[in-house]
Amino acid sequence: MIDGQEVTVRKGTNVLEAAKLLGKDISHFCYHPGLSIAASCRQCLVEIEKAPKLTPSCQAIVADGMVVHTDSPRVQEARRQMLEFTLKNHPVDCPICDKAGECILQRHYMDHDHRLSRVDVPKVRKAKHKDIGREIVLDQERCILCSRCVRFCEEVPKTAELGMMFRGDREILDIDDNRRLDNPYSLNVVDICPVGALTSKDFRFKIRAWELHATATTCNGCATGCAIELHHKDTRAYRIVPRLDPDVNSYWMCDAGRMTYKELDPDLRIHHARVDGETAPLAEAIAEAARRLRGKRTAVVYSAVETTEANLALAEVAKVLDATEFLARRPEGEVDDLLQDADKNPNLRGARRAAPDASDHMDQLALEIAGAAYEAVVFLGGLAPLSDVARQRLSSLASVCITDRRSELSDACAIVLPAASWAEVVGSYVNRQNRLRVLRPAFPPLADRRHPADLLHHLAVALGATDVPDARAHARALAEAYESDELRALVDAAEDVRPPLLRWAHMRG
Ligand code: SF4
Ligand code: SF4
Ligand code: FES
Repeated sequence: MIDGQEVTVRKGTNVLEAAKLLGKDISHFCYHPGLSIAASCRQCLVEIEKAPKLTPSCQAIVADGMVVHTDSPRVQEARRQMLEFTLKNHPVDCPICDKAGECILQRHYMDHDHRLSRVDVPKVRKAKHKDIGREIVLDQERCILCSRCVRFCEEVPKTAELGMMFRGDREILDIDDNRRLDNPYSLNVVDICPVGALTSKDFRFKIRAWELHATATTCNGCATGCAIELHHKDTRAYRIVPRLDPDVNSYWMCDAGRMTYKELDPDLRIHHARVDGETAPLAEAIAEAARRLRGKRTAVVYSAVETTEANLALAEVAKVLDATEFLARRPEGEVDDLLQDADKNPNLRGARRAAPDASDHMDQLALEIAGAAYEAVVFLGGLAPLSDVARQRLSSLASVCITDRRSELSDACAIVLPAASWAEVVGSYVNRQNRLRVLRPAFPPLADRRHPADLLHHLAVALGATDVPDARAHARALAEAYESDELRALVDAAEDVRPPLLRWAHMRG
């Protein structure tokens, strides 16, 4: 019984999680559901009948007949006193702190304390800017010594770089001498730090958290397909953070995956169609592509980086042209037994579903293009490791590239159609577990950019195909095939659903 309400939970559940099921958010700092329990901050104290003292709810396991009070006057006073204690030496940095707006200490202060400081002696000063890793800066003054970051490094990547030194009000979070916080998952400590003590070099001072929108989508960095939130303002992306998915990535993601948002830089994007180096209206460029492709000996190149919808749409074009099929993919990379997969393609399985017989011998395609085996080539995406000779030949062929940003390949092709990026479309990947992973649009594609599956749909129609599905129809069919309510709901939703403002979505940490 919690605050007079009965609750039934799985064996081993703690009181804090049981209270969450009743919609009660017990204030806490050191507890994180993905880590072991330290019970050191004492912010989550509750009153359990028959227990002599207040008890940390993160550590107390629910038992039959237990009666808990989470908001009695005794608990409220303890909560307030613990907050005052935590804030005693905390600097008043909020106006310049990157965590402001999503800081748990700020939130608890506003909810449970909200009184003027009684401290009338100088605060204990500690290091303000300590460069401790490739991606991370530590501000020891802001640290509230919750040990989440220490436990993360010990328990998740198992690298144990961080630790607590000294005692009392001199205690600090620090890194071992001669070590750097450079493990491939280091940026997760920035997410779980309840305050702004650990900040990301990449994100620091770029934008305030409350200006950002958050879109729940999927990482395209490798075949794992981690659940992520893309944080953006208007059409500019600022960071990627992990989203809980117990079946795929739990609470975490790798640092490399976080940096994939940089591909969305508007300055790298292709906004308009191009024919023979000149900007052209989109409809004319598609008609011209169809005119040049018709009746030609053609190769098409699928992409393991693009959505299944786009690859399926290319399969329709390949059918009309009776084309020879190839599949381009990123080379293998870093791998570990946590999340990172050696296969750096988010959708090899989805592309294979669209083109089961496509050859992945791109060197053969390069030789054949150089040897004039084809009169036309259609590339989905800008990924195609071709030799210089083959690339130079492309401008003299009927070469069409459907891509969202400039690359050596798009520069070499005669016709370029401007595609929407992964952050602008409804679409899906199939990850290494054969699970459908859904992409949600964070912002609409501007200028002439369109879903690549729709560009290919229009190309197939211009080539004379009938009854070809568009992007939405492909997505709906995939939602049925994989029994994905998530994708089905997205396809059926109104097109202009705005993602929630981050500050109202939830607190991070
Ligand atoms: S740096 Fe952040 S996560 Fe680490 S102990 Fe301090 S407050 Fe906790
Ligand atoms: S493990 Fe793969 S899918 Fe997950 S965040 Fe890293 S790159 Fe992205
Ligand atoms: S959250 Fe329970 S003691 Fe810190």
